Amino acid sequence: MAVKSLGYVVIEARDLSAWRDFACNIAGLMPSNSERDDVVLFRMDDRPFRLWVQKGERDMFVAPGWECASREEFEALLSKLESSGRPVERASIMEARARQVYELARSSDPAGHALEIFYGRFVDYAPFVSPAGVSRFVTGDNGDMGLGHIVLTAPNFDETHAFYKDVMGFGDADLGRFYLMGGGADDPGVGFAFLHCNGRHHSLALGQLPESPNGAVHMMLEVASLEDVGRAYDRVLKSKGKVPLSATLGRHVNDKMTSFYMQTPGGFDIEYGWNGLVIDPATWVPTTSLAVSDWGHKWAHESE
Ligand SMILES: [Fe+2]
Repeated sequence: MAVKSLGYVVIEARDLSAWRDFACNIAGLMPSNSERDDVVLFRMDDRPFRLWVQKGERDMFVAPGWECASREEFEALLSKLESSGRPVERASIMEARARQVYELARSSDPAGHALEIFYGRFVDYAPFVSPAGVSRFVTGDNGDMGLGHIVLTAPNFDETHAFYKDVMGFGDADLGRFYLMGGGADDPGVGFAFLHCNGRHHSLALGQLPESPNGAVHMMLEVASLEDVGRAYDRVLKSKGKVPLSATLGRHVNDKMTSFYMQTPGGFDIEYGWNGLVIDPATWVPTTSLAVSDWGHKWAHESE
């Protein structure tokens, strides 16, 4: 399996202080030292950063950083990308150093999303302390489950799905089909693919939807207790609309995550959850879910 985990995400923002406020005081992420004035970094665990937010002209999700287990896996993945016709750009040593990884390369998926690939696990030994009192973010043993998951749109769904399986080495966790138009005879449903690359039920999901203007639909961060979720929910409600609540508390059917959704300053959402399903990727048989949630998750854009 080529990709090991979702190592970090890169975000672009017009207002870094808005992101700092949101990330630290609402999400409870730990600010990390940045050598650049135009970049703010946030930690979730012993990695030097999990969120890289850089100043720019847009507010959006830019790219996931997919981690490979070793130099051999990294080189094998780059070869596979090249032979499948995807662009591969090797980053300079200084760019890799800035991301605090050994080696770094850039590519894109068939839906047009930028992606980064790296190997080398740098560690920050300063203890993780959440400024909002979050007990712990769940990233697995030694971070092996990665920072959470991301959800991307893919109008060319089948081609993009095949790319992540055949080239990037993901496996199917759930092939959902969601009937968002009521489920009548004329509702074709929307295809979703939830893909695993470690024990986390999914590190990536693809939706057969038009291109998202914010670069991603959402990213998910997992915390260690239901109280951590509840307290974050309270912080969002207390912000009195400054941080919009995108969906109420609920539980997903496929990864069993109890979570809510809030809008980031980047326009995309963060799903903030607890108790996600851990699978054995070697033996997992993919499911097909016909519903998103077994309770809750009332979306702000839904009518009564
Ligand atoms: Fe999610």
